[in-house]
Amino acid sequence: MQIAVVGTGYVGLVTGVCLSDIGHNVTCVDIDESKVERMKQGISPIFEPGLEELMVKNYKAGRLNFTTKHAEAFNNAQVAYIAVGTPQREDGTADLRFIEQVAKDIAQNLQNDAVVVTKSTVPVGTNERVKSIILEYLAKDVNVEVVSNPEFLREGSAVSDTFNGDRIVIGADSEQAAAIIEELNKPFGIPIYKTDIRSAEMIKYASNAFLATKISFINEISNLCEKLGANVSDVAKGMGMDDRIGNKFLQAGIGYGGSCFPKDTNALVQIASFVEHEFNLLKSVIQVNNEQQRLLLKKAKERFGSLEGKTVALLGLAFKPNTDDMREAASITLAHELVQEGAKVVGYDPIAMDNAKKLLPGETIYTNSAEEAVKMADVVFIVTEWDEIKSIKFDDYVNWLEVPVIFDGRNCYDLEEATKYKVEYHSIGRKS
Ligand code: UGA
Repeated sequence: MQIAVVGTGYVGLVTGVCLSDIGHNVTCVDIDESKVERMKQGISPIFEPGLEELMVKNYKAGRLNFTTKHAEAFNNAQVAYIAVGTPQREDGTADLRFIEQVAKDIAQNLQNDAVVVTKSTVPVGTNERVKSIILEYLAKDVNVEVVSNPEFLREGSAVSDTFNGDRIVIGADSEQAAAIIEELNKPFGIPIYKTDIRSAEMIKYASNAFLATKISFINEISNLCEKLGANVSDVAKGMGMDDRIGNKFLQAGIGYGGSCFPKDTNALVQIASFVEHEFNLLKSVIQVNNEQQRLLLKKAKERFGSLEGKTVALLGLAFKPNTDDMREAASITLAHELVQEGAKVVGYDPIAMDNAKKLLPGETIYTNSAEEAVKMADVVFIVTEWDEIKSIKFDDYVNWLEVPVIFDGRNCYDLEEATKYKVEYHSIGRKS
């Protein structure tokens, strides 16, 4: 099929590349000329395992193209994917400006019948708005249907998630349009679930809100475990053995970050308030997460009284491993509050350093290795569980620091192991 994908961020680029890999002819459109040029030269604008190789392979095979020209992309497109951002506005609602602009662009350029697929996370009812914009601006007398096809991929494993996802949700009011998108996705071999448009839009928000709830729930339990002398890792394991609960997303830590959970949970609270519903559960989830992101700081302050004059090494800055994404990362909150406390911050991340420099306080010192960061520090905060950071041994800490005091925000180490070394090891929801 001839496919156009608008937006080459995490969702758009991964979608375009993977659709070309299963045999479709895909043109990715982005307004950023230098980005388009780089992609043509085989350079991915984002760090995502396996993406660049697959992009180059399909570009060379002639199935994948990049352009800044909407007319070129939509000319003979049978399917047009909208995968532009829906950033959070000040009041927590999703900003739909980019979506609306793309809907107009598609309408003005389409030459034949087409299905417009919304991949971006959009509030319930948005696809209807997209359809009415398209109908209003349509330049040719062609038939256009709109389909909601929310994205469930995770950053850091986006390519493999696209090929091995749990489900593909297709929300459509037209059976014919749903059938086209079903056919297009069949080569992925993933279960397809078809529903109406509004339910598909809601599935996306409800799924992210539920996952965020699981995380805040286990984090609350972990805080209780600390006070009651239980071990949250064992508690999570025991809970997860119940199929109804499931063992995933029960990893206690310093809260969730990233471009999705914080934004989507806030948006759902707002969506609910528009229909006069107080989503109190989700509000608590958000509040718990805000506090959890500061937990290492709280623990360190309790331990030292004051952090003034102390040098704190933040190991891992990205919101999670295997990504260079810094959006809503706990490291941002921690670094700013540490500086306010009068501490010196040293930061290291294997990949996200360039992005970190834009968001962490100006006073932050960056090092080229975790070792260098630790050697400068009085206190170590493990913020992101990169393999590289998890592979640091207690032996290393003992060699690098005279008195290693480690606050592990991701429970990277075995408690028993910690007792064998001269380290002061604090983790989350487990005995110190
Ligand atoms: C999330 C969802 O997992 C995807 O299904 C969804 O498609 C995506 O949002 C989106 O809406 O686009 P992502 O934000 O890439 O994906 O990352 P996750 O792997 O879900 O992690 C989110 C945050 O939760 C991270 O900060 C992670 O450290 C934290 N987390 C995750 C925990 O603290 N504990 C856990 O047990 C799991």
